[in-house]
Amino acid sequence: MAHLRLGDTAPNFTAETTEGKIQFHDWLGDSWGILFSHPADFTPVCTTELGATAKLKNEFEKRNVKVTALSVDSLESHQEWIKDINETQQTEVNFPIIADPDQKVAELYGMIHPNESEKFTVRSVFIIGPDKKIKLTITYPASTGRNFHELLRVIDSLQLTAHHQIATPANWQKGDDAVISPAVSDEEAQKRFPGFKKIKPYLRITKTNNLQ
Ligand code: BEZ
Repeated sequence: MAHLRLGDTAPNFTAETTEGKIQFHDWLGDSWGILFSHPADFTPVCTTELGATAKLKNEFEKRNVKVTALSVDSLESHQEWIKDINETQQTEVNFPIIADPDQKVAELYGMIHPNESEKFTVRSVFIIGPDKKIKLTITYPASTGRNFHELLRVIDSLQLTAHHQIATPANWQKGDDAVISPAVSDEEAQKRFPGFKKIKPYLRITKTNNLQ
């Protein structure tokens, strides 16, 4: 499978998960989605990552995001490991973990990077829009656990910028000011973003608290 790029349709698949069999696109429905892989069950960083994800359930729900994890382990392995995650991370895993022992989904999404490991998935993340298009990809090595608050921040940016001709600057957080797209004229900007601040012709700032 060629490398997946932003704007590509997220490949559809059927898989066994800890919450039953899913057909990925049907499971996503009209929601946003996060599909993320981890190298292996019963490993320390992955245990903390899945615990951290479970603890953010309300935050994902508020944003209409469904989350699913994946590794090339079996369903039985995932089910046993969940008990450890719940115990050690003081949470309840509340999202499906995909069992991919034949590497079918991992291959489809290019989650195995042979120079890292021939056998295990790296820490891939795919954020998928309600249109089933890939909106973001990131890849971390096995040694580095991901920041799931950063995924929420990206979702906030993606959801805001999907509806307005704006972009979010460095280190932006929900509620902060945004920048107006260069494609919007000053005249149009005045209508859409009244009171915007023009620092340079290409650097125009608008409040976001009135934007839905
Ligand atoms: C971990 O999750 O801790 C891990 C997994 C594979 C390699 C190294 C660390």
